[in-house]
Amino acid sequence: MAVQNIKPGVYCVGAIDWDRRLFDELIPLPDGTTYNAYIVQGSEKTALIDTVDPTKEQEFFNNLTALDIARIDYVITNHAEQDHSGVIPRVLERYPEAMVVTNEKCKTFTMEHLPVPGGRFKVVKDGDTLPLGNKTLSFIIAPWVHWPETMLTYLKEDRILFPCDLFGSHLASSDILSVDEGHVYRAAKRYYAEIMMPFRTMIKKHIATLQKYEIAMIAPSHGPIHDNPGFIINAYREWISDDVKNEVLLPYVSMHGSVHRMAGYFTEELMKRNIKVLPFNLTNTDIGELAMALVDAATIVIGSPTVLTGPHPAAVYAAYLTNALRPKTRFASIIGSYGWAGKMPETLQSMLGNLKVEVLDPVIARGDPKPNDFKKLQRLAEDILKKHQESKITT
Ligand code: FEO
Repeated sequence: MAVQNIKPGVYCVGAIDWDRRLFDELIPLPDGTTYNAYIVQGSEKTALIDTVDPTKEQEFFNNLTALDIARIDYVITNHAEQDHSGVIPRVLERYPEAMVVTNEKCKTFTMEHLPVPGGRFKVVKDGDTLPLGNKTLSFIIAPWVHWPETMLTYLKEDRILFPCDLFGSHLASSDILSVDEGHVYRAAKRYYAEIMMPFRTMIKKHIATLQKYEIAMIAPSHGPIHDNPGFIINAYREWISDDVKNEVLLPYVSMHGSVHRMAGYFTEELMKRNIKVLPFNLTNTDIGELAMALVDAATIVIGSPTVLTGPHPAAVYAAYLTNALRPKTRFASIIGSYGWAGKMPETLQSMLGNLKVEVLDPVIARGDPKPNDFKKLQRLAEDILKKHQESKITT
């Protein structure tokens, strides 16, 4: 990414990673990502807000050279994860006067992850300010977005919020600003689902705190900058709300076709009742799409055959991921099959302990599903309809 001037004295000096297709060796990145870092030049001091992933170090330093940055006084570290902090040791080598400015917990985390000596830190607390001359930074301690040490930085004169991961998206784009809001919405929702959803209670508090700040621009550390902050804040308000949609998420796996037939039949029964269904055949599923579907669905039904007396490992993976992401889903059930014996439904249900769901009676067929099993699938679809209607979940 070439240097981008986003306001007088404020520059984006980060890097675009067009080719990255996996993050944390877990999360698919269909659109690549960016690591945004920002230079804020005041009349007296210069601050760098976050750095980049070490794989993009050279590009980042080329940007600092292009901008002719001879001195950095402060390296603001909003978050210790290495895709933002990883180049701090090299920045401190190149700019020996620079101090790392962060909160106490982030200082500890940074020192545990990177070779940064304790004497190079300036520790700040919630509400502290850092004058740069004609510009002023202030700090909002905002834990759990998505690590316990996270904080947000606010540039008062330009009304820019630098929230690091919060409000970000894994989206490589030549548009530095959020121009195509439809595309950014999907990328940001995917990012929220994969990274932020387990912390929605904390995010509610942080968004309430931000109400007292005038914000003209949100400059996250992944993806495009939001020059219409209301767009992304309102999207987050929708995702973190307690509202769910008249949707059933149906991740399933089938070995010899029994569960596949059950999933197909069940999908049609739900559709007949005007319930939106999102089936995911787990042998070929982008887990980011699955996570996104979890943001809104009122109900999840997991489909699995029985393998070695338990659930299929692909179904275990879906259940584990769902449980870890803690969606606001209200109802859950299980459909599937077994050959001779096993505890498939009990095992899957026990894996969803983080969810505050009412579990509806599973439908488990012995071998090939028979007419009576299809009747039970009708009954489950009817139960879901009733539960959604009783809870006034109609759209
Ligand atoms: Fe983009 Fe939590 O790092």
